[in-house]
Amino acid sequence: MNQTSKPSQPINTHAPVMLVTGGAKRIGAAIVRAAHEQGYRIIIHCHRSEQEAHALADALNNARPDSAVVIIADLAVVNQSDALHDFTQNIMQAFGQLDVLTHNASRFYPSPLGHITHAQWDELFLTNAKAPLLLSQALSPYLRTQRGCIISLLDIHAHNKPFKDYAVYNMAKAAHRMMVQSLALDMAPAVRVNGVAPGVNILPEPHSDQALDPQQQKSIIDSIPMQRIGKPAEIAHSVLYLAQASYVTGEIITVDGGRSLTLAGGPV
Ligand SMILES: NC(=O)c1ccc[n+]([C@@H]2O[C@H](COP(=O)([O-])OP(=O)(O)OC[C@H]3O[C@@H](n4cnc5c(N)ncnc54)[C@H](OP(=O)(O)O)[C@@H]3O)[C@@H](O)[C@H]2O)c1
Repeated sequence: MNQTSKPSQPINTHAPVMLVTGGAKRIGAAIVRAAHEQGYRIIIHCHRSEQEAHALADALNNARPDSAVVIIADLAVVNQSDALHDFTQNIMQAFGQLDVLTHNASRFYPSPLGHITHAQWDELFLTNAKAPLLLSQALSPYLRTQRGCIISLLDIHAHNKPFKDYAVYNMAKAAHRMMVQSLALDMAPAVRVNGVAPGVNILPEPHSDQALDPQQQKSIIDSIPMQRIGKPAEIAHSVLYLAQASYVTGEIITVDGGRSLTLAGGPV
């Protein structure tokens, strides 16, 4: 685990601080940019996308000096108390406070019945459920001090409309959804806990293990009443709303162009 781009002398020490896990690219980066535009100081967490994270932090620091840092870690740190402690300390040393914890990092791929492995279970549950819970617990004293909030990136398929052939992902996101509701109770009134459930707001990268073929992409667009894939910025908009919604806790906002109205489960 490394920490880089640490500001030597934070300039606006009154600006709230947001941590975005998996914040180097895609939806995470859109949340980072939107929060920074609203004046937040940002901790960009990443794992493999170091280059993208540093490029993003550099752009933010050019726009407003000492407003962004990068922290690099595999979220598997939560499996070891010492590593989790070090990760937490790195987070808190970045700006000395934490106001918003945004759980965005995730793994997403199919796990067809008959081929489910322990490794898939461990990775999908680690990133989509276990790490958000244990990181929330580790950071909760600091969030309480700030009367801050937690915002989780969930999925419209985390509830009662599972993706076919994605049982492990569906189960892990469902656990994460219940974490939001459970922690909203356990952390009130000091800390609010909410979620955003995207439909399809950015397609998986074309050459990744999550890639969707053209037929799958067409069937997704056909299923969306708004007749288009959403935009990462449309997710960021709801995250920023929840960060400021001082009387909202335990809420999950669907941002899916109406897709959940037309789905009764079934293929992607
Ligand atoms: N894309 C959509 O339309 C959609 C739909 C429904 C729900 N969501 C949810 O919205 C969130 C963002 O979606 P996305 O598609 O932008 O996410 P993504 O690209 O699939 O993943 C976000 C980041 O998670 C990080 N990550 C994965 N495994 C990690 C690990 N072991 N340790 C640390 N970081 C890890 C990766 O960081 P590095 O690149 O640095 O390794 C990755 O860039 C996710 O929670 C997703 O489930 C998205």
